[in-house]
Amino acid sequence: MTRPNLMDKKIGVLYGGESAERQVSLESGKLTLEALSAFNAVGIDVPTKELADELQKLKIEYCFIALHGGAGEDGTVQAILNTLQIPYSGSDVTACAVAMDKHLSKLVFKGAGLPTAPSLTVDKAVSWEWVVSQLGKKVILKPTCEGSSVGMQIATDEKSFISAMRLAKEFGEKILIEQWLEGEELTVGIIGKEALPVVRFSTPSEFYDYHAKYERDDNSYFCPSGLSDEKEKEIQAISLKAFEALGCKGWGRVDLMTDNEGNIQLLEVNTQPGLTTHSFVPMAADVAGMTFEQLILAIINKS
Ligand SMILES: Nc1ncnc2c1ncn2[C@@H]1O[C@H](COP(=O)(O)OP(=O)(O)O)[C@@H](O)[C@H]1O
Ligand SMILES: [Mg+2]
Repeated sequence: MTRPNLMDKKIGVLYGGESAERQVSLESGKLTLEALSAFNAVGIDVPTKELADELQKLKIEYCFIALHGGAGEDGTVQAILNTLQIPYSGSDVTACAVAMDKHLSKLVFKGAGLPTAPSLTVDKAVSWEWVVSQLGKKVILKPTCEGSSVGMQIATDEKSFISAMRLAKEFGEKILIEQWLEGEELTVGIIGKEALPVVRFSTPSEFYDYHAKYERDDNSYFCPSGLSDEKEKEIQAISLKAFEALGCKGWGRVDLMTDNEGNIQLLEVNTQPGLTTHSFVPMAADVAGMTFEQLILAIINKS
């Protein structure tokens, strides 16, 4: 699909949605609409099953997807837009679906020779002894297809492992058990084929869980990262390779951590990251000298 000249097209900004990240998306969408005020853009917040009808009714010719998680990030909305032949921002169906699945993403990272934390994917009960023998005495359990740290819990003994397995199971059959990384959290926004400055951050919480992500106001964010030029470039290069290996395009955000030895390990790629005033991509874009309007237009131009 070719990108339309937006000046004479009707743009739909898709926001809100039905995922756990609805509130964040409402803010991303509102800011995106403001940034596109010079264009003929309207906000669209309808249930996914009504989306196709609404787009046709409003005669939408281009969609900016400001949804996060759920149908807006797993390829569903992208598939609806493909069917209607409406061009849109960001990654296509397949890249979204693979990036949303942490198990599949890890297979791709490993296949591409990229570093990622050691892990096991299970769909039935396994013994804590076996997990310890494979990954060590501290692990984090994640449902394979969730975001926002939903259903994630740390395990350090049999009791906490059983409880973490039970929690993760509530969100899907497959569970990713990942070695606990003691190092720093890093995230890298990607626009087109370029990486934005690295954001390094830390939280007083045990990990960057839902509460830390959206409710704490005492996390520390560093952008510029304060890392050496060499390290910054290495992190950006790994992030770009991960983004490309998953077949992502347009824009996105890569989450990474360092391990006990300071090695960089990939966690995941987000194809529909936040666009609020305190989201990572706008933060890094600002450090790179881009206004929010320029960021939104760059995402459209590179998609
Ligand atoms: N292997 C790990 N070791 C330590 N902390 C982790 C690990 N994996 C995830 N985390 C913590 O959980 C957060 C969310 O993990 P992530 O894989 O990015 O999933 P989500 O899709 O929920 O953002 C990370 O930002 C980090 O704080
Ligand atoms: Mg993440």
